[in-house]
Amino acid sequence: MSEFKALVVSEEAGSYTATVSNRHIDDLPAGDVLIRVQYSSLNFKDALSATGNKGVTRNFPHTPGIDAAGVVEASSVAELSVGDEVIVTGYDLGMNTAGGFGQYIRVPAAWVLKRPKGLSLRESMVLGTAGLTAALCVDKLEQAGLTPEQGPVLVTGATGGVGSIAVALLSSLGYEVAAATGKALQADFLTRLGATQIVDRTALEVGKDKPILKEQWAGAVDTVGGEILFNVVKALRYGGSVACCGLTAGGQFQGSVFPFILRNVNLMGVDSVEQPLVVKASMWDRLSVQWKLDLSELVQEITLDDLPAEIERILGGKMVGRTLVNLG
Ligand SMILES: NC(=O)c1ccc[n+]([C@@H]2O[C@H](COP(=O)([O-])OP(=O)(O)OC[C@H]3O[C@@H](n4cnc5c(N)ncnc54)[C@H](OP(=O)(O)O)[C@@H]3O)[C@@H](O)[C@H]2O)c1
Repeated sequence: MSEFKALVVSEEAGSYTATVSNRHIDDLPAGDVLIRVQYSSLNFKDALSATGNKGVTRNFPHTPGIDAAGVVEASSVAELSVGDEVIVTGYDLGMNTAGGFGQYIRVPAAWVLKRPKGLSLRESMVLGTAGLTAALCVDKLEQAGLTPEQGPVLVTGATGGVGSIAVALLSSLGYEVAAATGKALQADFLTRLGATQIVDRTALEVGKDKPILKEQWAGAVDTVGGEILFNVVKALRYGGSVACCGLTAGGQFQGSVFPFILRNVNLMGVDSVEQPLVVKASMWDRLSVQWKLDLSELVQEITLDDLPAEIERILGGKMVGRTLVNLG
């Protein structure tokens, strides 16, 4: 089979159109490993790529998809054999390398992980980059000393991909989870994932002009950034930490040194894309055993044809949970 289906985003006079088209294996970039993709997932960054954000994707036509799970069809390296089930997340996949919204990808072996035994290919993509990022955030908070006894942990953007998995993971680890959301109607969904407190997003926008706020959170996973992030920093309990990984509310905030020098708090960055493969592997192993989650509550499954509408939805901040893409 040398032809396959892919979502192809084309650029014309500064506007971008995404259609499902036939591609040829020869269209794929050179690489060590050819993978027949069975599942991908939709992440916020894919929507940025699909709508011409040049910080994500410079050249079009392009196939987005920063996540892919499938079976090796050809390999030029000894470590990976035809028939191996593998996952690829991040690095340049779906950015300037044709990504998981196509039935085939060809990538360097250095990006490819064998599927952990405790996760199916489908389960690995229900988690995808969102799950990996949530796990990296929780791991970083725990490395900074966070334990369940210290008090509530806030998750912002809680109904989104990273947010909803962070809520479920923290709750399964015994944390008291406060879920901040702009979607009041999704309170039941968040409660079912394990949140014990629902915080209206607008409450986190109050107090921007103050140098410090009342101590509330022992820790936080922030997926939204902007002024909300620094308000969360200002409301950390003494010695608390926030793991910052996203920017749906904005990339900038006004801050001061006061929370750091008065409350001894930590603002920590988390990146899932360029982590060394060995770090990704250890997180995936954890997600497949000790941190294994039942995520049936938060996933919807779609096909390539459904992607353009779902891209609009995620860009509009309307996503709830995870969107799994079945490439058939
Ligand atoms: N650092 C990394 O490696 C990494 C990895 C993955 C994702 N990310 C970033 O993390 C963020 C979340 O990604 P995702 O894939 O989980 O996206 P997502 O599914 O769209 O979730 C984002 C959530 O943010 C909230 N939100 C949307 N617009 C907002 C606004 N204007 N102000 C405040 N909150 C808003 C919404 O949740 P509520 O309605 O519940 O508030 C939304 O569901 C993105 O910025 C993404 O680029 C970074």
